[in-house]
Formats: sequence, C-alpha cells, structure tokens
Amino acid sequence: MSKGLRGIEAGETSICTVGETENNLLYRGYNVIDLSQNCVFEEVCFLLLNGKLPNSSELKGFTKNIFSKRTIPKSLISVLEKIPKETNPMDVLRTTCSFLGNIEPEKSFDNQMNCAERLLGIFPSALNYWYHFSHSGKKISIENDSESIAGHFLSTLYGKKPSETEEKVMNVSLILYAEHEFNASTFSARVCAATLSDFYSCITAAIGTLRGPLHGGANEKAMDLISQFKDEEQAAKSIYSMLENKELIMGFGHAVYKKLDPRNDIIKSWSKKLSVGKINQKLYDISCRIESIMKEKKGLFANADFFHASAYNFMDIPTKLFTPIFVCSRVSGWAAHIIEQRSNNKLIRPGAKYVGSDPLDFVPINERV
Ligand code: COA
Repeated sequence: MSKGLRGIEAGETSICTVGETENNLLYRGYNVIDLSQNCVFEEVCFLLLNGKLPNSSELKGFTKNIFSKRTIPKSLISVLEKIPKETNPMDVLRTTCSFLGNIEPEKSFDNQMNCAERLLGIFPSALNYWYHFSHSGKKISIENDSESIAGHFLSTLYGKKPSETEEKVMNVSLILYAEHEFNASTFSARVCAATLSDFYSCITAAIGTLRGPLHGGANEKAMDLISQFKDEEQAAKSIYSMLENKELIMGFGHAVYKKLDPRNDIIKSWSKKLSVGKINQKLYDISCRIESIMKEKKGLFANADFFHASAYNFMDIPTKLFTPIFVCSRVSGWAAHIIEQRSNNKLIRPGAKYVGSDPLDFVPINERV
C-alpha cells in the first residue's frame, strides 16, 4: 500500500507530465518555461483544452468567447452581495461555481467547452465583484471588453488599468498555475467527472480540494510566514526554531518533485524584479534567506507557491485573494481533465486495505454496555 497514493499511476493523461527529470513540466508536450516566456494565458488555456497551440484566428475566436462570458447574472450578483466580508474567498468561488450550475446547468456534455469558457470568463469578475462589494460597498462594473484575463483580473481589482509589467507577471503566474497532472484538486475533478456528473459539480469539488493549505492554500500561508519578520536575521532565527519543533514551512517541498520545482525560478525572478523600489522590498531578501536555510537544513526547495507570495504582495494583491487566483488559472487544467476523463471514462473506485475488526456477533441494543 502507498500512503497518499504516492507513486501510483491512477490513470492516463496526455495533458501534462511533471517529468522525472529537472525542468520537465510539460503541458501537451510544451515546456512550461517556454510557454511562460512566450505566451499569454489564453493561448495556454486553448492548448490545454484543445491539445494544440492556437493559430492567430483560433486565438482571436477563443478570447472573444471568453470576453463575452464575463458578465455576472443578476441572480448571482444578489448571492455575491449576501456573502459576508469575513468569508474565505475560496468559498465565494465555490459558491459562484455551484450557483452557476443551478442557473446555467450544463444540460448536455456537448456544452462542456462552453462551461469551461464561462468559468474562465466569470471567476475573476465574480471574485472582484464580491471583494469590492463586501469590503467597501462598491458595485464594480464588469465590461465584456477585450482585456486579457490577466488584465481583466487586475483592472477589476485595482479599479484602473494595471501596468504592463503587472499584467505580464499575472500572465506568467496564471500560466505557471494552469496545470499539474494528477494533483489533488485535479484528481477530485476527475473522480467527480468519472461518475458522469455535471461540469459545475466537478469544478466545485476541485475548488474545495485546492482550498487546503497543503495544496493551493500554501501561497497565502507562505505570505503569513514571511510578513511576520522584520529582517533576514529574525526570519533565520525563527525558521531554525520552527524546524527544530518539526513545524511545516509552507511553500516548501512537493509530493512529486524531489530536487526542484521548475516553476520556482520563473516566479522568483519576477518577484526580484517587482521588489525593486518597493517599501517592503525586504520581503524578497527574507524569502531568499528562508529558501537557503530550507536547502541547507532539510534539503528542501521552494515550490511554486513560495515566491508567488512576495510577487503578489509587491503587486498589491490582498493575501486572501492569492489562492482564488490559483482557481482562476487552474480551472483551465481542471476543465481539460474533465473533458479527457469523459472521453474515455471508467468510474474511479479504488480498493482499501481493511484494518478494522474481524466479524463480530450482533449485540441487541438492550445488551450493549
Ligand atoms: N517544511 C518542513 N518539513 C517538510 C516540509 C516543509 N514544507 N515538507 C516536507 N517536510 C519534511 C516532512 O516533515 C518529512 O520529514 P520526516 O521524514 O522527518 O518526517 C519529509 O520532509 C518528507 O515529507 P513528506 O510529508 O513525506 O512529503 P510529501 O511528499 O508527503 O508532502 C507536501 C509534500 C507538499 C504535502 C509537503 O512538502 C508540505 O506539506 N509542504 C508544505 C505545504 C505546501 O507548500 N504545499 C504546496 C505544495 S505545491
């Protein structure tokens, strides 16, 4: 038996491989480093969903579809307006997805691509609508304009257009988070899809799974960690003592990678660039110090989440929105996996090693102690 199903091949996929060797994270055969340097997020979504990179007219058609699917229906607006400020924003996206399944049900699997585009379009709108309304009572307007998903997310958050660099980094970030083979949330989506359930149920299950701090929630926990320290020395002292107490340091380690996470160098270098001239520039140096202690003491490397924390913070993104951004991205990968699962389906139902009692004689209620 393998605890946590480590090392078990639980199915086939042609969408992604995390690779055995270094820097070998491939989406449909393309290296994530090349994609993050040369593509916009929409190209990567098309690639994941359709199995090929789009030509210019395919990309134009695809992005136009997503732009037209940003609008929030009135009934969903009234749901969003009822969700309190204190709610975890992951729950807001889970509710958005689930409620959309009520008012715009999938009806037939022929509609699956439409559902994928709808969720790619609406998640940033719904998240930022709720965020502004619940925190300041402001009702932001959602335009079906031609801004990229990255640009749309940032301008609905900031209330103004992002800088070119901010939009570029958000594109890179969405690409890095888009897909990662049979990770926990994708596996949840596939288990749900394998029962022939509807698209919205599959994505709702995935959001609930991504929410946990051992998975997507790690980027927020990493931010909580680095923001506690006033300088590198204080960080070092605290990390040594946390390690002595066998505490987990969020943003380090990985269930599959053993030497490095290929996404780390990319987001780390953007974090460094973004830090220049910021009042809280030290967050980058503190992060680097923690990274080197983790290497030296535990042989552990930063995963994709660790430097995302400082990068997002330099972009003035509230910490509570870090994991929801992961949803806005990973919905592309989840959607591709739902479509793939349905195309060659078998109900997913593993066995379990029984460690319970031997058969017992039944005891009537009045004889039980
Ligand atoms: N901080 C401190 N120690 C860690 C660690 C971390 N982030 N990640 C792993 N370790 C330690 C474990 O305690 C264990 O030590 P032990 O052998 O002395 O018991 C050893 O490294 C192996 O860890 P293990 O839990 O078997 O690895 P895993 O493959 O099951 O877990 C994670 C992978 C991602 C769940 C784990 O590394 C973790 O919890 N990381 C923090 C959360 C995180 O960043 N999640 C995002 C992942 S992309």
